[in-house]
Amino acid sequence: MSWVQHFGLKEPPFSKEIADSELWLPSSKQGVVTEMLDGIAARHTGILLTGEPGVGKTCVLRVLRHRLPEAGHRLTYCHNATLGRRDFYRQLCVALGLSPKATAAAVFYCISTHVQELSQERIHPVFLLDEAHLLHQDTLDHLHILTNYEWDSKALLTLVLVGLPDLWNRLQLNRNRSLWSRIHTRLSLGGALPADTAEYVHYRLRLAGSDRDLFGSDALAVLHEASGGRLRDIDRLGTAALRHAASRGVRTVDRAVISDLFTGEQSR
Ligand SMILES: Nc1ncnc2c1ncn2[C@@H]1O[C@H](COP(=O)(O)OP(=O)(O)O)[C@@H](O)[C@H]1O
Ligand SMILES: [Mg+2]
Repeated sequence: MSWVQHFGLKEPPFSKEIADSELWLPSSKQGVVTEMLDGIAARHTGILLTGEPGVGKTCVLRVLRHRLPEAGHRLTYCHNATLGRRDFYRQLCVALGLSPKATAAAVFYCISTHVQELSQERIHPVFLLDEAHLLHQDTLDHLHILTNYEWDSKALLTLVLVGLPDLWNRLQLNRNRSLWSRIHTRLSLGGALPADTAEYVHYRLRLAGSDRDLFGSDALAVLHEASGGRLRDIDRLGTAALRHAASRGVRTVDRAVISDLFTGEQSR
């Protein structure tokens, strides 16, 4: 019998395969999503969202995708930020459904014409750039130009930059001030607080079909401590704890199970 069956669950509870509509949205995340939606509605040119790995940035983008009215918006998601400037623009072309052009100038022209056409149809493009801390400086140097239309009098495109906390510091450098000054919505996503960790675990277990609390409160405290409130780490450690409890034939993860697991991890 698998550990999933052992706990009477219908699926592994901490999987990354969770539907957009089922994502967990405590008030802290709700606030971030609302600010992003407001920034897009206000036609802000730039939005920045930073946070440590695994705190849930990409999931916030998925909530945004789910919430943003389809009519009137064209959302484009790109996470391959390591490209040089030309390849970056080519990729943006493909994402926008345009045929890639040979030269950087042609690509740039093609994109700006397209964005202006969308504006005539009253469609606002939103370009989500995930893992943006990986952007090459020459791409970053150019990004503000992408958002500059009609002598910089109009924001025809909202650029959403998402990345690790370093990105925030990098954008503040003098060299990046043209872009930084156009980023009017600046948000950072923190890790879960202890009460959030408990709520998250509870939420995911319920979604997976559990009708009782599988983690004791002291086990949750240890889980929170060990994960630093980063959801991806909670997923990994929570799964390991459930597997460990199942292998010992017990029905709940209590402090003994979780301490035993961590002692085992450290000595391995
Ligand atoms: N709002 C959420 N609802 C449910 N699970 C989430 C949520 N945010 C994050 N997670 C879980 O945490 C994992 C890491 O989140 P992710 O958004 O990829 O982090 P980041 O982009 O900050 O590195 C996801 O795979 C998912 O399992
Ligand atoms: Mg991510």
